Amino acid sequence: MAENSANNIDNLLHEARRFPPSDDFANAAVATRELYAQGEDPVAFWGSQARGLLHWHTPFTPERTLDWSEPPFAKWFDDGELNVAYNCLDRHVLAGNGDRVALHWEGEPGDSRSFTYAELTTEVKKAANLLTALGVKQGDRVAIYLPLIPEAVISMLAVARIGAVHSVVFGGFSAESLRSRIDDASAVLVITADGGYRKGKAFPLKPTVDKALEPNADGQESTVRNVLVVQRTKGDVDWHERRDLWWHDEIAQVDTEHVAKAFPAENPLFILYTSGTTGKPKGILHSSGGYLTQVAFTHKAVFDLKPEEDVYWSTADVGWITGHSYVVYGPLANGATEVIYEGTPDTPHPGRWWEIVEKYKVSILYAAPTAIRTFMKLGRQIPQEFDLSSLRLLGSVGEPINPEAWVWYRDVIGGGTTPVVDTWWQTETGAIIISALPGVTTLKPGSAQVPIPGIAIDVVDERFRSTEADQGGLLVITHPWPSMARGIWGDPDRFVETYWSKFGRTTYFAGDGARRDRDGDIWLLGRVDDVMNVSGHRLSTAEIESALVSHPMVAEAAVVGASDETTGQAVVAFVITRASQADAAAADDASAVLRAHVAEQIGAIARPREVHIVSELPKTRSGKIMRRLLRDVAEGREIGDTTTLADTMVMSVISNTLK
Ligand code: PRX
Repeated sequence: MAENSANNIDNLLHEARRFPPSDDFANAAVATRELYAQGEDPVAFWGSQARGLLHWHTPFTPERTLDWSEPPFAKWFDDGELNVAYNCLDRHVLAGNGDRVALHWEGEPGDSRSFTYAELTTEVKKAANLLTALGVKQGDRVAIYLPLIPEAVISMLAVARIGAVHSVVFGGFSAESLRSRIDDASAVLVITADGGYRKGKAFPLKPTVDKALEPNADGQESTVRNVLVVQRTKGDVDWHERRDLWWHDEIAQVDTEHVAKAFPAENPLFILYTSGTTGKPKGILHSSGGYLTQVAFTHKAVFDLKPEEDVYWSTADVGWITGHSYVVYGPLANGATEVIYEGTPDTPHPGRWWEIVEKYKVSILYAAPTAIRTFMKLGRQIPQEFDLSSLRLLGSVGEPINPEAWVWYRDVIGGGTTPVVDTWWQTETGAIIISALPGVTTLKPGSAQVPIPGIAIDVVDERFRSTEADQGGLLVITHPWPSMARGIWGDPDRFVETYWSKFGRTTYFAGDGARRDRDGDIWLLGRVDDVMNVSGHRLSTAEIESALVSHPMVAEAAVVGASDETTGQAVVAFVITRASQADAAAADDASAVLRAHVAEQIGAIARPREVHIVSELPKTRSGKIMRRLLRDVAEGREIGDTTTLADTMVMSVISNTLK
């Protein structure tokens, strides 16, 4: 296990603060203790949630609730039929809630738009007709590369409505990253915008799409037939006749009626690419009925959602899994009123988030620890300038939240009274797996606490024995769950190998270290593989290394995630340059060039915090780079055991270079 995990264990063992629910909160809570008893029979539990929370055009038969005959490829509710978009839209309108606001959208420059459920339904129906007119059919893949504007939500739901498969690519990814995702999924359409707003500036998106769709190095054309362009910034764009279409022109010509067809529960809903331990991102595939069941259940129970009263805000972008499950599908399936915000938290002023909470009277806020720690640094006086009294529940996701940040979040943002739920899950799990249930659980700052009802997990050692209390181990999920990934797009073997082979085909290996305390609460200890977590975003060391070595200056590269007070981890690279090139570029310049090169190859989120030019890398006798030692250097720690190095002097050479 990583050494920083061992440090975490020490710190966390001393956390003794406890926050039981208030009587008022507990009495009115959506979640009840009985849910845990019901969850002991996961198949019956999820079957009843699926029936209770969703509308099924064709109900599934109880015997077909779960088919686990070919693990790890699960099927849930597979003789049932439903339409995901109908569940998120039409049925709320038909139930008399058409006038309830579904979305309050806030643009970064301060423009805003709100959509009731009736209005959002109409927009999605039109977009579904437009997709059909463009020849998109059930099962086709559509890439969505948009800023966080209403059309992002509308596009995802329209794709779902016609039974096609979306692949949302975060707007911060480069042309290369976008193209590789388009190619991997053979997408037929890209939905993009001229640009979006970020940090007070319009950033262009369309030129990135144009670049992504150029013939590749082998002269191959992409599979994309059309590019639909939403006008957001009104910036100049190059136009490819026949291929490119303006969203507003096309949408004006289509019918406003569209009848949602039923699709099988296992119809694929989306692919979302995420970083793994190899250089190539994995297309995680999710399907419809099981996914929607678990995101709806968790959104309701973990966030204590009262759809008639609450205003919910998840600050995630739709380019990440949190944006799929807890911006689009969970909240809308539950008929919630939610806020979405296009921009950065500090634009045009550092109180922007709190201004939005005040403006929309947000009652439930779901954010990442990095943001909380950044606000902590800026000081409590900024949030205190705003009326945050509407907040009644706070959530955290994406990385471990340290107890200090947890307590600050509750005290300063939550007025010292709101529960804080720390939710652990992954792109692959589709929905929350471990979290407190507000109103039921006594909260412990820094612990994600317990599996939600209907989920079975364990913490085990390398030999698959459950660890003793307070011992670190590996987190596994031991029973299938409805929102589990159905595979890696186009690569079933890699799916089995990555997640379902370490402990056999029926045990999901999450890749996270964890410890269970004496009360049975879970404390997450970070990744146990070469995946980094920077500001709650997953990055692969191998992917950044391969971006670095693609630069002619670089002979060899090693990347580590070094702990960072604000972002959790930061990318630190060690690079050996080619001799002739190294002379040409002074080390400082070379670092800057390489940092920019990674940003261009992958996207700005992957830009290393530091690139160190070194003459050697620490390797074992078999040639494996010992990242553990580089992490010691990057974190300014004493260097650990070097006895397995082929050349034990290397570390002192590296340390001296950096001094
Ligand atoms: O290491 C865990 C960390 O984020 C990883 C999953 O990343 P991703 O698929 O991008 O999904 C992020 C949003 C769900 C996990 O393997 N992680 C996520 N939530 C937590 C967490 N680590 C600790 N505590 C959490 N609450």
